[in-house]
Amino acid sequence: MPFPVTRTIAPKPIPSDVGNTFGAYFTDHMFVMDYTEGRGWHNHRIGPFGPIPVHPSCSAIQYGQSIFDGYKAYRCDDGIIRLFRPKAHLERINRSTARLCMPAIEPDTVLDAMVQLVGLDRDWVPHQPGKALYVRETMIGTEGFMAVRPAKTYTFMIFLSPVGNYYAEGADPVKILVSDKHVRAARGGIGAAKAAANYSASLLATEEAKALGHTQVLWLDSVERRYLEEVGTMNVMLKVGDEIVTPPLTDSILPGVTRLTALHLLREWGLKVSERQIAIDDVLAGIEDESIEEIWGLGTAAVVSPIGELTYRGRSRVVGGGKIGPTTAKLYDAITKLHTQAGNDPYGWRVD
Ligand code: COI
Repeated sequence: MPFPVTRTIAPKPIPSDVGNTFGAYFTDHMFVMDYTEGRGWHNHRIGPFGPIPVHPSCSAIQYGQSIFDGYKAYRCDDGIIRLFRPKAHLERINRSTARLCMPAIEPDTVLDAMVQLVGLDRDWVPHQPGKALYVRETMIGTEGFMAVRPAKTYTFMIFLSPVGNYYAEGADPVKILVSDKHVRAARGGIGAAKAAANYSASLLATEEAKALGHTQVLWLDSVERRYLEEVGTMNVMLKVGDEIVTPPLTDSILPGVTRLTALHLLREWGLKVSERQIAIDDVLAGIEDESIEEIWGLGTAAVVSPIGELTYRGRSRVVGGGKIGPTTAKLYDAITKLHTQAGNDPYGWRVD
């Protein structure tokens, strides 16, 4: 669908290296479209990146009607810029919108807009391996009112940020605190949606963990505080003996696209993969008897992040000698090659 493109008259200097930052820089342009009940999506446009006016009583601010999704565009080793699995992310955002009573987007229109936007700001896509252009989609309820009900108007935006590593540790193992005090998401709640509120819910436990020297929190289930759910902002996976285990998707776990990619690869490699519940007691026992030597997080931002130490109720246990294990390393290597290696798109996941 053709829509107006207004180029900025004040382009910003493009950083030659974004270093170890995530979301510190924003490119020159953004895509925006508006929704009105009864009229649908309209006013599609690309314009200069910048603040947007919002009503102080809009549902996004007052009641958290705010969702997002994010994925990356990579500069591949043949110089071509490619988006990784944008269609899976577009499907997911429409599951998030449904959960928060927000309008669905039109995937084809939004994919076209993304491709145009990334093309316009292509010089911002980092050249260094491991770095990428993070594409952030966001939808907010914009109607100003005070009753608690879904808004009748929304704005959807896409903006871009050249990023480095999500964690300062990069792909090195991180120290994780198991939280049995706070939970990220409740059963029956909105944990499976990429809702802004889930990230607010994670802040206090994460700040407490950081103050104690940990990088992130391992989240347990809200009912028994026993079963693993996620780690930080990521899905979690473990190698238990010869079996790869990840918690099954429930309404309190975000269905990660990197999780999906990893499951696909691991199964293709002929490994035994189970989506099953795993209790923290069994994880701790497994670390001690060394049947668990690898635990890792999976997310778009950090890709694959090995866990080198797990602390639970004041006691720390080193996982796999505190080093990245062979399965974690193989997965990291395979996924990053799917991101950036020219010609390596056996599943048709990329869009350029
Ligand atoms: C991801 O791993 O992609 C995330 O969800 C992190 C993001 C909130 C920065």
